[in-house]
Amino acid sequence: MDDIIYLDNAATSFPKPEEVYLAIEKTMRTQGSNPGRSGHKGAIEAGRVIFEARENISKLIEIEDPLRIAFTMNATEALNTAIKGLLKKGDHVVTTSMEHNSVLRPIKALENIGVSSTIVQCSERGELDPKKIEKAVRKNTKLIAVTHASNITGTIMPINEIGVIAKKTGVCFLVDAAQTAGSYDVKVNENNIELLAIPGHKGLLGPQGTGVLYIAEGVEVTQLKEGGTGSRSEDLLQPTFMPDKYESGTPNTLGIAGLSKGVEYILNKGIENIRDHEESLAEHFILELEKIEEVKIYGLRKRGKHAAVVSINIGDEDSAEISYILDKVYNIATRAGLHCAPLAHKTIGTFEQGTVRFSFGIFNTHEEVERVIRAIKEITSQL
Ligand SMILES: Cc1ncc(COP(=O)(O)O)c(C=O)c1O
Repeated sequence: MDDIIYLDNAATSFPKPEEVYLAIEKTMRTQGSNPGRSGHKGAIEAGRVIFEARENISKLIEIEDPLRIAFTMNATEALNTAIKGLLKKGDHVVTTSMEHNSVLRPIKALENIGVSSTIVQCSERGELDPKKIEKAVRKNTKLIAVTHASNITGTIMPINEIGVIAKKTGVCFLVDAAQTAGSYDVKVNENNIELLAIPGHKGLLGPQGTGVLYIAEGVEVTQLKEGGTGSRSEDLLQPTFMPDKYESGTPNTLGIAGLSKGVEYILNKGIENIRDHEESLAEHFILELEKIEEVKIYGLRKRGKHAAVVSINIGDEDSAEISYILDKVYNIATRAGLHCAPLAHKTIGTFEQGTVRFSFGIFNTHEEVERVIRAIKEITSQL
């Protein structure tokens, strides 16, 4: 992918730190045994690789017990496990209009078994008023499920205030950190987060096929799958302890080895330095875009109020067409359309047109931002 300007980090980060590629190859070549099954040296070594990943992620989200972390395939699997595993017939869930379908679809699917929901409307800029969350809580509310930052506008949600509401009302709090983990602090204890879903392949810089679900002690979540865990083989029932309860089948050891190195990279570099770099790129981009009359920028524009995700349109042009031109003519990778968040697009008024989304990562540069701005100016002048 030479000379590509990759601005689709909200979908999956690219490239990864060198250490991630090396760890995946090393694990595949030398440590490729099945962890937690056999007792030979290779299996023990593979188990160590996985435990180290749990420890690194625990450091990142500031929890004491690495065993409260279950590995999943992606954030979607983590969110489905949390939502479907927690909610039962008669329960109510509060969520927002800025959520990804990975939150909204499992919630909607649960209507079939008698789970009801309130979708709190966010502002046209994607902002969430925490008071509306509190107002939506009922006697039978079991869960508040909120994204930490929108994948369309990047708008950062007030998770600390919602955490206080969750604690006060005794409702379980699920945070979807798909667009923030790795760049923003997601302190689970400080924010009263009891369930946390994270993709391994976005801000954590691991490979695709990795994700994380944190479950606080005392929160009862039924597993989605049963099967081989390598533990309690004598038992026909699924183990009830973490993380085995949620980790059926041979794990993605190679992916988790890469994810571990991605998280190590973040811990060494410092989350605040990564955030600072990504935010400065987004700020630079927005300041230059604001000078182009035909460009409409969605969401909050102020630095610190949004993650490094910027959605735009050029006049009434089809977002897919603009994204296609950026890719084909300028080698700039973006994502167009509805980004799996239809209600978010209804909220910001772009359900028909979609948006062109530019999402910055740790390896993007200001020089790339300049090139993208030049490309947008050129496209705009030719319309
Ligand atoms: C806010 C949000 N939640 C959930 C997801 C789903 O993540 P994954 O692709 O890891 O399943 C995404 C992916 O784009 C997202 O942006």
